[in-house]
Formats: sequence, structure tokens, C-alpha cells
Amino acid sequence: MSSLTSTATKNGGQTAFYTRPGAVPMPVIDRASGIHMWDEEGNRYIDVSSGPVVSNVGHGNPYMADALAAQARTLDYAFPRLIRNRPNIDYVERLAALAGPGFERVYLASGGSEAMENAIKLLRQYAVATGRKAKTQVITCQPSYHGATIATLAMNGDIMLAPFLDGFAEVTPKIPAPLSYRVPDNHDADSYAEYCAGCLEAKINELGAERVLAFVIEPVGGLSTGCVVPPQRYFRRIREICTRHDVHLVFDEILCGMGRTGRFLAAHHWPDALPDIITMAKGMASGYSPLGAVLAPAALVDELADLSGFEFQYSYNANPISCAAGMAVLDLYQRLDLVNRSEIAGERLRHGLEEMQGQLPIIGDIRGLGLLLAVELVADRTNKAPLPNHIQPTDLVRIHGLNNGLIIYSRPASGGRYGHWFMVSPPLTITDEEIDELLGRLRSTLHDLSLELAGAKSP
Ligand SMILES: Cc1ncc(COP(=O)(O)O)c(C=O)c1O
Repeated sequence: MSSLTSTATKNGGQTAFYTRPGAVPMPVIDRASGIHMWDEEGNRYIDVSSGPVVSNVGHGNPYMADALAAQARTLDYAFPRLIRNRPNIDYVERLAALAGPGFERVYLASGGSEAMENAIKLLRQYAVATGRKAKTQVITCQPSYHGATIATLAMNGDIMLAPFLDGFAEVTPKIPAPLSYRVPDNHDADSYAEYCAGCLEAKINELGAERVLAFVIEPVGGLSTGCVVPPQRYFRRIREICTRHDVHLVFDEILCGMGRTGRFLAAHHWPDALPDIITMAKGMASGYSPLGAVLAPAALVDELADLSGFEFQYSYNANPISCAAGMAVLDLYQRLDLVNRSEIAGERLRHGLEEMQGQLPIIGDIRGLGLLLAVELVADRTNKAPLPNHIQPTDLVRIHGLNNGLIIYSRPASGGRYGHWFMVSPPLTITDEEIDELLGRLRSTLHDLSLELAGAKSP
């Protein structure tokens, strides 16, 4: 008890819940600007991963601060089951226009998990209202991440959750995610993706199409897969399978949407395989206010409105201050051309990482699109052997990062079962000079980590 108390006290605040014996205390950050953060001792860090891929427009932006303050002064709150508010009406219209045909209706939420819950509830209610009550099953991938509510935890492809969920929540049926780096011996990335698409059809047949409501996938992976990008053929295949079996295809773009991949939506990379529903969050309000969304076709939402309407809400949905934050983010995207910038800056960053890979054998793979990149660490590049779990590689890279002035988002996904990686996803506002500084500090970080693993240096 005393050691737990002291660990929690040492870290304080929300972190008291995330700490564990032996954990290295996290810095207390007291200000941030652009891609930088400063702790209470005055140390400067680069926000390498935009937190967990949230801070797309960078920190401390005065335009954002003014927009939030102005909205708080004008109208702070309006409960959407009783009254409408202008920021909500204007914001969803603008978001839908950027999303394009097929995504005319936007249901706002307070974050990613809530958006995902709402997407599934919307589809379920639509199925019930249209006489397809048997549709209860949601297929997801192993590994994957869709949130931290009880229902979304049950959707996650994370083997470490098994004891937590066992007997507690109904775990969704899983198919293999189209991983690209460590694929079975008889496959390359393309043929494995083809195999994974086949697994979707097999799973639908096994469950009975009349029972399958949706297939949910991160079109570009986040932390769960280390930014896996499936091949174009995979998307065409899953689109065709879902259509043929009357199964809704849902893209979880909570992390990879909002221009991260060099398109406004990741789905825009594969326009001939668009999903039925998209969920978004994170970069929508860039961390300035909680915000998430479900993008849905007018035909579905309007038909449901004629039948029963959607039943569910949360008190903070469509909050005017969050909508104003979302609108201000879109203003900055337009003014700074951030979607294109993500593509161009992403190329520079990837090129720098690839150069580093040539110098540092600990880098096994670099994956992703635009400014959504992940670096996978390995013990041996020749056979792709992962670093051993017991040394907690994701913690080590985080700690060496802090020592080199970097805040790196790195956690063991699925307990490290599929390997160890970290996110390189800085704010979309990052300049070329800042990319070069980030790369220099990352090289030192991984050099120090390599030395430690060789027994020559401790963090
Ligand atoms: C792909 C994906 N889906 C869903 C979520 C859940 O979002 P939130 O943490 O905002 O609830 C996340 C968060 O990391 C995510 O990366």
C-alpha cells in the first residue's frame, strides 16, 4: 500500500491511475506552443506524436484560443434534444462538404470511443427499424483499437484484454488485420491482405450474413498496428464483400482522418471503395476541446428519421464551444493548406526516417501515410525478430526520448505480441527545420537505446 501510495503521489493528477511500481515519472508540462512543450523545470520537448495523434494544428495557437473564448462568451451550451445551435449547424455542414458525397449527415460526439459507440448504435437502430433485427454482430480485426468504453473495448483486437473482458462484455468476432511487415512465411504483404479479405467473407458466412451488422476497420492503422496501410485491392475486396452480404462497412478514422494521411479522409485514398460510415475524433478540435463525429449517408439517416429517429444522446454532444473549436481548426486547415502539407512534410519525414534506418539496425520497418508514421523496432533486422517483451521496449524508447527532448507516443499494443513500435506523427504545422531537428533528436534517442540494449548505457 505504501509503495502504491508513494508511486501515485510521485506522479500525481490523472497519472496516478496509469502509474505502476518502477514507472519513471512523467514530466509536468506547463506550457506549449506549436510543436513544442515545456516542463516546469523549463526543459523543452518536441511533441513527436501530437500526444496520441491529436494536436494537428499545434499547441497554443492564438486563433484557436480566441475562437474558444469568443464562443464561450456568446453561447456556452445548448442541449441538442431541446434547442439547436448555430455553431453546430454550420460546422457539420462544412465537415460534410469536406467529406464529400455519401457523408452528408454528421452526428457529433465528445471523442473517439463515443463516436464509435454512436456509429454502432445508429446502425443497430437502423437495422431494427428496417426489420433486420437479427443483425447484432460487429466484426473487427485482430489487432485493432476502437476505444475504451466497455462496448468498444470488446471490439478491440487486443489479446491482453481477454481476462478483463471474459464474462464481462461480449467480445466481437475477429478476423486477422492485413498486417504488412511480419506476415506468414507463405505470404507477402499483398497476398496476406488478400487472405485477410477472404477471412472476412468466411466469418460472415460462419456467422450468417443475416446476423452481421457491420465490419469495422481502421483504414490506416494507429498504435494498434503501427500505421499499417493495406493495399488498394484489399479495400476493393472488403467493399465488395460487405455490399454483397448487406453488411455495413465502417472506417474508424478517429486517428487517421482529418488530413493526417495527406487526404482529408483516409477513405479518399480509395475512392472506389468508400465505406458506409466513418468515425472521426482526435484532430477534429486538435485537443482544444473534446470532439468526435459519425459521418453517415443522408439516405440512411433520413430513412431512420422517417421511421423512428435516432434515440440516443450525451449531454455534451454538439457542444457550441467544441463546434467553434472544430470550425477554427478547419479555418486553419484552409489557411495553412494543412492536408497538402501533411503529404509533403510526411515525405520529408519518411525520407529522414529511412536514412536513419540505414544507420541504425534497431529500426525494422517504417510504415504509414502522410504525417502518420510509425517506426517498428527489432532485435534483428535480418529475420525481423522483435525486441524481447520483458525489457519493455516501448517504455525504453519513451524514456530515452524524454532524455533527448522528445515526447513519444509509444505503448505496447496487444502486449507486444505483434512487435514494438512508436508513433511519429507531429502536428501538421511542423516546418522543414523542425522536422530536421526532430529527426536529429530521434537519431540520438535510438542510438542511446541501441547502446543500452548492447549493455553500454542506461537511460
Ligand atoms: C483508431 C482509434 N479508434 C478509437 C479511438 C478512441 O478514441 P478516444 O480516445 O478519443 O476515445 C482511438 C484512440 O486512440 C483510436 O486510435
